[in-house]
Order: sequence, then C-alpha cells, then structure tokens
Amino acid sequence: MPSIMRIVLPALAAASVAYGDVSATTTIQNAGDATALASCSTFSGSIAIATGTTDDIAFSGVKVLNGNLVANSNANMKRISASDLEQLNGEMNLKELTRLVAVDFPKLKKIDSIKWESLPNLQSIGFTASVEQAKKVDIQNTAVRSLTGINIQQAQTVKIANNQYINEISMQLGNVSTALDFSDNNKAVKVDLPNLIWAANLTFRFCGSVSLPSLAKLNGSLGLINNGFETFSAPNLTEVGEALAIVGNEQLNNLTFPLLKKITDNLQIANNSKLVEVKGFPQLESIGGAFDISGNMTAVETPELDNVKGAFNLQSSENITSACSFYQGLKDKKLVQGKFFCRGVLVDPSTEGTKPKDQSGAKTGAASTLSAANGALGLAAMAAVLLL
Ligand SMILES: *[C@@H]1O[C@H](CO)[C@@H](O)[C@H](O)[C@H]1NC(C)=O
Ligand SMILES: *[C@@H]1O[C@H](CO)[C@@H](O)[C@H](O)[C@H]1NC(C)=O
Ligand SMILES: *[C@@H]1O[C@H](CO)[C@@H](O)[C@H](O)[C@H]1NC(C)=O
Ligand SMILES: *[C@@H]1O[C@H](CO)[C@@H](O)[C@H](O)[C@H]1NC(C)=O
Ligand SMILES: *[C@@H]1O[C@H](CO)[C@@H](O)[C@H](O)[C@H]1NC(C)=O
Ligand SMILES: *[C@@H]1O[C@H](CO)[C@@H](O)[C@H](O)[C@H]1NC(C)=O
Ligand SMILES: *[C@@H]1O[C@H](CO)[C@@H](O)[C@H](O)[C@H]1NC(C)=O
Ligand SMILES: *[C@@H]1O[C@H](CO)[C@@H](O)[C@H](O)[C@H]1NC(C)=O
Repeated sequence: MPSIMRIVLPALAAASVAYGDVSATTTIQNAGDATALASCSTFSGSIAIATGTTDDIAFSGVKVLNGNLVANSNANMKRISASDLEQLNGEMNLKELTRLVAVDFPKLKKIDSIKWESLPNLQSIGFTASVEQAKKVDIQNTAVRSLTGINIQQAQTVKIANNQYINEISMQLGNVSTALDFSDNNKAVKVDLPNLIWAANLTFRFCGSVSLPSLAKLNGSLGLINNGFETFSAPNLTEVGEALAIVGNEQLNNLTFPLLKKITDNLQIANNSKLVEVKGFPQLESIGGAFDISGNMTAVETPELDNVKGAFNLQSSENITSACSFYQGLKDKKLVQGKFFCRGVLVDPSTEGTKPKDQSGAKTGAASTLSAANGALGLAAMAAVLLL
C-alpha cells in the first residue's frame, strides 16, 4: 500500500498528505488521482475532490474509507463512484454539484453521515446494496425521486427537505434519537415508517400521507404542519415528551390518538379548516403545558383529561357550548391551572392569547390570557416546535 501512495503523492503534495493519518485530507484533481488509490483496500484520511475537477471520479479497490469524502462547489463533475466501498467511516459531503447525475456506491452498507445539498440533477441514489447504517442523513435540494438505497435501522438525525420530486419515503427505521424532519418535498409524498417505535422530535411538513403504526413514545415533539392528508392516526402512541402541534393541515378531518395519555408540554391544534370534530383523544389525561385548540369545531372531547398545567384556550366558529361546560368544570375544580378561555360562535377563532370577535362583531375582550408564567411555559415552547 505505501508504494501506491508514493505514486499518488506527487499529485497530492500540495495538500501535504501523510498516508494513514485520519486527520489528513487528500485532494483529488482528476480521474488519475482517484485511480491511484485503487489498491488501498483501507484508506485512512479524508478525500476531497477539487473544485475544478471535470473528470468522472471513480475510486475502485477501496473497501473502507476512514475519513470524509467531500465534493463541494463543482459545476462540471458528473459522476462519483466507488465500486468496492463497503464502509465510509466519515461524512459523504456533496454540495453544490450542479451537473452531478450519478453517485454510484453499489456495495456501500455503512456510513457515518450523508450530507447532500444542492444536487439539482441527481435523480437516483446509487446505493445498490442499500445503506443500512448511518447516524445522520441530511438530503436537501436534490432531484432524487425516491430514497431507495437508504434503509437505515436507527439514526440520530434524518432530514429530508426541499426535494421536490420525492414522492415516497419508506424506511425500516426503528428509532431516531435526536430529530427526524421530512419537510417541503413533493406534496404527494407518502411517508411510511412501519417500524418506528420511539423518536425524539418528529416534524412532517407538506407530506401527502404519514404512517407511523408502531410509534409508542416520543421523547420530544411531534409537529404536523401544512400536510395534505385527510386522516392522521398515531395508533400506538402513549406519550409525547414535549409538545404536540397540529397546524395548517387544510384537508384534515379525522385525527386519532387512541392510546395517548400524556403530553408533557403544549397541545396545539390550529388552522385545520376541515377538522370539525376533535374526538380522537379518548385516553388523554394530562397536558404539562397549554391546551390550545382553535378552528371550526362543532365538538371537542377529551373525556379523561384531568390536568392542564398551562393556559386553556378553546375557540371555535361553531357552537361549542357543551364542550365549554365540560372544560369549565375542570377549571372550577382547579384541574386547569392556567388562565381559561373557552368560546364558540366566533368570527375568527384563533390561538392562545388572541382576542376573537363573536358573530355579532363585538370583541369578546376576554382572551388575552397569557400571563408571564404560562407564556414561558406555553408560547416559548410552541415557537420552538413550530421552528423545528
Ligand atoms: C433502535 O432500533 C433498532 C432497529 O429497530 C434496534 O435494533 C435498537 O435496539 C433500537 N435501539 C433502542 C435504544 O431502542
Ligand atoms: C403496539 O404496542 C403494543 C404494546 O406495546 C405492541 O405489542 C404492538 O406490537 C404495537 N403495535 C405495533 C403495530 O407496533
Ligand atoms: C427516548 O425514549 C426511549 C424509550 O423510552 C429511550 O429508550 C431513549 O433512551 C430515550 N431517548 C432519549 C434521547 O432520551
Ligand atoms: C426538540 O426540538 C426542540 C427545538 O429545536 C429542542 O428544544 C428540544 O430539545 C428537542 N427535543 C429533543 C428530545 O431532542
Ligand atoms: C378515522 O381514522 C381512524 C384511524 O385511521 C379510523 O379507524 C376511523 O374509521 C376513521 N373515521 C372516519 C369517520 O373515517
Ligand atoms: C393560522 O393562520 C393565520 C392566518 O393565516 C396565521 O396568522 C396564524 O399564525 C396561523 N396560526 C398558527 C398557529 O400557525
Ligand atoms: C374555517 O373554515 C373556513 C372555510 O373553510 C376557513 O376559511 C377558515 O380558515 C376556517 N377557520 C379555521 C380557524 O380553521
Ligand atoms: C348552542 O347550543 C346550545 C345547546 O347545546 C344552545 O342552548 C344554545 O342556544 C346554542 N347557542 C347558539 C348561539 O346557537
């Protein structure tokens, strides 16, 4: 192996490479530089593809790369491949490669981190063997059609955003320890995570459907924002460790959380125009933050609720007299600890802290309910979930 490196070194002299030094970076200028690495079955050190490279870059022979593979800001290169690479113990960082059409790593199974950004001509992920282990996956602004080739079992973070052609995401993912965010991909994207059992923060924005049949526990928050689905259900979810926010899902008319008992922070349901009944929380007992539901509901029922630590806000365009009398009962028993506002037949039902108008046009004047205390508990945390 060292002899091969001697051949490569002249081309790399400028980068002052020491072979075997994981912290060193080898810069590849052309196809020949890449070919020269061929008989290193294990290569330690990062590899950077120079900005001016116009050749297709093929690393064959290398089975394990202990370092990063980086190609940034290159408007000419069309293909990167590594026919024998099985493990990349570092980050594959591909950014602003405007003409890149192929990333072919047919044997890759394990990688630390995939970070792809602005690859407008990359339509498919050439991970034929399917990557099954990755700690971080971040794919944004690409033309990929599907995530076939990435099928990881557990991850720290997964972010798939602004890939306008992705219309299906399906992974065997069992848990996500920090955050998963699927946002602003194709609006029809079908998301299926059949094995996901627990996760920290989950965010779904502009998704066509989301299926989480096994999800049992969230250590963090769940944000469902601007999605296109009519139905959402988390059939096995028992606990939300932070907030639950369901906002701006225009078509949503059926929302069910049949086993959910506890939400540690806020529950916010707002701007879901077609959600006329909120009856999908049959076991919900406690909310550690605010209860904040507004919209066009004719019915809101949480029969087991007996503890709301923050503010209570329920506003509807419809008559919700019976819901309000139920919640007034909780307030009277001091089971709602924060400020209380419950009102129907409003022109502009809205979130906690707003002053709605009733249908006669008069300001109700009563709803500026946020005290400093529940403001910190409520809106600050809500802002956080909305910014996920
Ligand atoms: C995470 O999910 C994987 C795949 O389902 C599983 O093997 C692993 O035990 C899980 N880890 C934890 C801590 O739940
Ligand atoms: C739902 O949770 C129960 C109890 O923890 C478990 O036995 C069952 O397999 C889960 N269902 C799914 C679809 O994961
Ligand atoms: C989240 O909850 C799961 C299941 O209870 C637990 O195994 C995991 O350690 C927790 N993760 C974090 C990051 O707290
Ligand atoms: C979820 O995301 C929020 C906002 O980014 C962050 O404050 C919080 O710590 C995250 N929760 C977990 C369990 O990672
Ligand atoms: C609402 O969704 C749940 C769970 O998907 C389903 O069981 C139920 O039949 C749906 N209700 C209506 C009225 O469609
Ligand atoms: C609901 O929609 C209104 C009008 O577009 C907007 O001002 C408000 O911020 C939205 N509420 C939330 C919680 O996003
Ligand atoms: C109530 O429904 C109307 C008509 O669909 C819609 O314009 C309005 O935004 C909805 N209000 C809320 C708060 O969702
Ligand atoms: C709302 O419904 C209640 C019965 O549930 C009725 O007594 C009340 O008059 C209705 N209010 C309005 C403004 O229609």
